[in-house]
Amino acid sequence: MACRSMALSSKLWRLNHHPKPPSLPLSLTSLRPLRTSTSFLPTFSPLNSLSARFSMSPNSAAKQDLVVLGIETSCDDTAAAVVRSSGEILSQVVSSQADLLARYGGVAPKMAEEAHSQVIDQVVQEALEKANLSERDLSAVAVTIGPGLSLCLRVGVRKARKVAGTFNLPIIGVHHMEAHALVARLTEQDLQFPFMALLISGGHNLLILAHDLGQYLQLGTTIDDAIGEAYDKTAKWLGLDMRRSGGPAIEELALEGDAESIKFSIPMKQHKDCNFSYAGLKTQVRLAIESRNVNAAIPISSASSDDRRCRADIAASFQRVAVLHLEERCHRAIEWALKIEPSIKYLVVSGGVASNKYVRARLDHVVKKNNLHLVCPPPSLCTDNGVMVAWTGIEQFRVGRFDPPPPAEEPEDFVYDLRPRWPLGEEHAEGRSEARSLRTARIHPSLTSLVQASLQQQS
Ligand code: KG4
Ligand code: ZN
Repeated sequence: MACRSMALSSKLWRLNHHPKPPSLPLSLTSLRPLRTSTSFLPTFSPLNSLSARFSMSPNSAAKQDLVVLGIETSCDDTAAAVVRSSGEILSQVVSSQADLLARYGGVAPKMAEEAHSQVIDQVVQEALEKANLSERDLSAVAVTIGPGLSLCLRVGVRKARKVAGTFNLPIIGVHHMEAHALVARLTEQDLQFPFMALLISGGHNLLILAHDLGQYLQLGTTIDDAIGEAYDKTAKWLGLDMRRSGGPAIEELALEGDAESIKFSIPMKQHKDCNFSYAGLKTQVRLAIESRNVNAAIPISSASSDDRRCRADIAASFQRVAVLHLEERCHRAIEWALKIEPSIKYLVVSGGVASNKYVRARLDHVVKKNNLHLVCPPPSLCTDNGVMVAWTGIEQFRVGRFDPPPPAEEPEDFVYDLRPRWPLGEEHAEGRSEARSLRTARIHPSLTSLVQASLQQQS
């Protein structure tokens, strides 16, 4: 489901960028505070527990066996997982708000917040129990701090800080889209930087070049809706069962339809860039549905065979064009990326829509034509999950990017640094879109700019 940023947030949560763990005790104390336009990277005074944690021989911290709890609540899934730095997934728990989605046809922030609050303790508890561990066995807690819905992010962050504070654990703030991309490095051991990623979900449509951990170049993004939003609306208008979200329902129905029967036009053909647009395709689909008198109030399970056939044709035709748009943009993005980083070998496709078999097959074709390899995490790691957050936490922890444990008791009105609008990287010059600039007033500097500022400070 599309989770767009809705509210401003404060900036008390700090994303620290410390030097690599081997030199921690010494260089952390010598780190000077750095002010950026809106963010403050503070001096870090190593707590006793952390000094102890890292009072080992140089380089060993990076190789240390870590066990990290990951918490994800940025949109409509409440998820937690425990992952080892070896890549072993010790547990994975997801509580979905699918029933709420099916009832209301979208994510209502207040309701989603309540749903997260009701299950978060249980989800985290279950993740620990399934891993056969207690909080005391953890090395750190990682949590999504953006982008997403503030009200929802807050539930996960509060819980993560509670666990980290009570058990004196370091805490790591994670970028949701970076987590979607990096989980591919858990499943594909050979995936080294630099690589490309297409991240396709309910709220995002991103093409990026991943130079390094925390360093991304944005080749393209959507100027309006993301592809997942188009799948969800099409499913709703076709009267499909939304309990597993719209995407899987369209994928299944499309198998019965004729994908050539309706000639929807491919979005943004005349724009020779890597940006996306799905709002126009949504309108084309809505008009096609109206002109064929499809009645969404009649569920597909009760439709006549002609009616079912008609709906399947629309689903298949929509999917074909929605994915052709991805194919075309990926082809161009690969050309751009190889000019910048000729050593690229992989395109990662992740995010909820990447669990679609048709999407995977079509993109595999594009990637092979360009002599690259496609990496798609398994479906349970493509849709929102805690594993990707825990894994991104592990990657950051290994290079010393984490916060010290929060206080054991934090006041109820403590203001967290949540980043509902948080770009992953800077835009590639060729990909800039005037059309988008009005909608994307930035609230937070990109992850990449924060990391680069911090690295410059250290050098
Ligand atoms: O990444 P994700 O779980 O949550 C967000 O960050 O948005 O993605 C959810 C989106 C929804 O729009 C859902 O309909 C779509 O992923 N999705 C699919 C499939 N499974 C999930 N879209 C197409 N085909 C699927 N099999
Ligand atoms: Zn997501």
